[in-house]
Amino acid sequence: MKVTVGVTGGIAAYKAAELVRALQQQALDVHVVMTAAAQQFITPLTFAGITGHRVITGLWDSDGQVPNAHSAIEHISEAQSTEALIIAPATADILARLAHGMADDFLTTMALAAAAPLILAPAMNVQMWEHPATQANLEVLRQRGATIVAPESGHLACGMLGEGRLAKIEDLVRTVLDVLHRRHDMASETVLVTAGGTREAIDPVRYIGNRSSGKMGYALAEAALFRGARVILISAPTRLDPPSGCKFISITSAAEMRQAVLKHLPEATLVMKAAAVADYRPRLRAEQKIKRTGPITIELEPTEDILAEISNLRKPGTLVIGFAAETERPLEHARDKLARKGVDAIVLNDVARPHIGFDSDRNAVTFLTSTSSQELPEMPKRMLADRILDEALRLHRPSQVMAEMNAVSILANR
Ligand code: CTP
Repeated sequence: MKVTVGVTGGIAAYKAAELVRALQQQALDVHVVMTAAAQQFITPLTFAGITGHRVITGLWDSDGQVPNAHSAIEHISEAQSTEALIIAPATADILARLAHGMADDFLTTMALAAAAPLILAPAMNVQMWEHPATQANLEVLRQRGATIVAPESGHLACGMLGEGRLAKIEDLVRTVLDVLHRRHDMASETVLVTAGGTREAIDPVRYIGNRSSGKMGYALAEAALFRGARVILISAPTRLDPPSGCKFISITSAAEMRQAVLKHLPEATLVMKAAAVADYRPRLRAEQKIKRTGPITIELEPTEDILAEISNLRKPGTLVIGFAAETERPLEHARDKLARKGVDAIVLNDVARPHIGFDSDRNAVTFLTSTSSQELPEMPKRMLADRILDEALRLHRPSQVMAEMNAVSILANR
């Protein structure tokens, strides 16, 4: 399996040689791409010697030959053939360039062209690390799905004490193995995700809606796609672009969502109902816009509980997970929903907590089953999506997942 190590220009560049070696010991075919600055710290020859492959050092230098058609598209072929790109050490400069989507050297161009997961292991002076610009760039990259292996604290090359030292090589190797493992672990799944808040029409221009942004559902769809699953995303209106590669079904009301979910349920092996479905809809929809004539009463009727319905209708082996946004006594309400709706798990979101949840890019949840409760602490929704999928897979095929996780940790501990 091919992985690429990107080396950028920091003192820790020499540690990249050790990383390459350690990855090779995991039977990975390691290729190296260096920035111009990295070559001031360590020579390409070192990496060529260790890997047995030509080290890519620039966009235009194809083996010292005259640039040709091959060199013109080399960044694309490298990007497409690698299973993971780990940049270690990642300087403040490369984080900034990646965050802005720049493509001014081989490494940044390849990172843009790669569908493979991106792992970043920053290493720099503590003040550069703590600078709001660096932290903002990291957050952008994290939101886009990059895995960040945070630097450690200790004595830095600049003489200062603080955070900024490249993470331990064994942690980097473990992260690469984890990412590679996740990359294909859902290839046999068809995941049906619902997202967004449904809208129930009052008249042709007004509706009853809710504050759901759809971000959690879209993050789940994207994470499942990334891990090789076939994904059907049934979405109420949101401001988000559907992740490319999913089957996207746009609906508006709870009734339309129900129809779409029932239609696609037979294909699904995993159902994740992240949508905020209206519990009530106006019994009658006014044909014309309602005029302001004085107080009015809108009679509401309950919508069908789609989640409870599919829990009964699903074929054996299909895992159904509900989402609950609660403002009071969260655990009690979530446990009640788990039993009442007959689902395998509830992802509980305590929306009373400030700054996370609704419309936020971050969230913290509890993954609740009838026998267990797993806290997933505050993190970006895209990262949380992977953690939720990990928990779901653990429930779905416990023996297989345990065996694979053991295999990964045996490899990492070797
Ligand atoms: N849900 C559903 N159909 C509905 C309402 C909710 O499928 N008509 C699903 C949601 O997609 C979510 C879960 O049920 O996965 C929990 O939603 P929530 O609104 O918290 O549940 P309710 O049963 O409506 O409970 P509450 O009384 O708290 O509103």
